[in-house]
Amino acid sequence: MKIAVLPGDGIGPEVTAEAVAVLEALALPGLVLGHGDVGASAWRRHGHPLPEATLALAAEADAVLFGAVGDPACDSLERHLRPEQAILGLRKHLGLFANLRPARVFAGLEALSPLRPEIAAGIDLIIVRELTGDVYFGAKGQRTTPEGAREGWDAMSYSEPEVARIAHVAFRAAAAAGRPLTSIDKANVLETSQLWREVVSRIAGEYPAVALDHMYVDNAAMQLVSHPERFGVMLTGNLFGDILSDLASAAVGSIGLLPSASLGERQTAHGTFGLYEPIHGSAPDIAGKGKANPMATILSAAMMLRHSFGLADEAARIEAAVARTLADGIRGADLGGEHGTAAIGAAVRARL
Ligand code: NAD
Ligand code: IPM
Ligand code: MN
Repeated sequence: MKIAVLPGDGIGPEVTAEAVAVLEALALPGLVLGHGDVGASAWRRHGHPLPEATLALAAEADAVLFGAVGDPACDSLERHLRPEQAILGLRKHLGLFANLRPARVFAGLEALSPLRPEIAAGIDLIIVRELTGDVYFGAKGQRTTPEGAREGWDAMSYSEPEVARIAHVAFRAAAAAGRPLTSIDKANVLETSQLWREVVSRIAGEYPAVALDHMYVDNAAMQLVSHPERFGVMLTGNLFGDILSDLASAAVGSIGLLPSASLGERQTAHGTFGLYEPIHGSAPDIAGKGKANPMATILSAAMMLRHSFGLADEAARIEAAVARTLADGIRGADLGGEHGTAAIGAAVRARL
């Protein structure tokens, strides 16, 4: 079980350390951890946010545990040197096109949500976000209009095979969970979305047991906070999925609670190669203060055990320990509590 640990920037190293400690506490036989530099810290040390050695470490591992990248001091670097290019590069180079972002309210903790508890109680969904296409990876640039004004532009596109493979992931997830599938697009305005909708509708024929509907992304954002119970699996493109998953995290209570798995097609001995990371960023406003909630990263490690190593029982143990920790009132500042990163990590380990 070779895991590449890439802590990154800001709170990345703080939350990753707690997730690694949880994995070590399970005393899994054959666990081998290798650490790599990524993001702004890699740029400072090696002149590049995704050094060759880091990419090689990730590619040779069975799974990657990723913290976060991003540093305000790097916001004016040329785009290819910015820390965020590291995570985009890893996703692209490793073929990780399927991003699973589960969001559910922990039973009994509905009051942690900014939504009314009876609404929050209905949140139990998975966002299936396409991760290697869309406007993120299209051509982009700046140019001058005929009138002499500066203009920024980014090309949005999805090919039929790109939509088809992520749609199959979402249909399988919906079928396995026995939940409805909502495909989210902006087909009333965008050609990219028109094709998306046609392809998803065609593939629906292969999954007669899954109830499919289509929804425009603006309506989906609204429904997510007013009627979250209507969603089981939400299938989206890269950009819409980015935005909707932050929204879902707030609805659950905090962005410090939402894990993710990014999967491709490569199989390992006991599962699928994947990269596991919290959905949040480097949180420069709280970095270095020991205040970050490590639960999203700890839950990402649980997803790793389930998807890459076939260790569903161990994954469930971690998830139960996190739920128990929250139920016992051990909460970070993001949830109105006073516990710091290390205390939360220790509390989860004590409950494993
Ligand atoms: P962010 O997710 O880093 O932070 C948003 C807010 O949530 C901040 O107030 C932060 O303090 C809080 N927060 C985030 N994670 C938390 C945690 N675990 N516990 C408690 N509070 C938490 O988003 P941002 O501020 O827009 O971005 C900061 C940097 O991170 C930027 O450079 C951005 O590009 C980058 N980013 C990276 C990733 C990634 O590495 N996958 C994801 C998102 C943003
Ligand atoms: C995320 C992040 C990344 C994204 C950024 C850092 C490139 O916001 O993982 O949600 O937009 O995918
Ligand atoms: Mn995001």
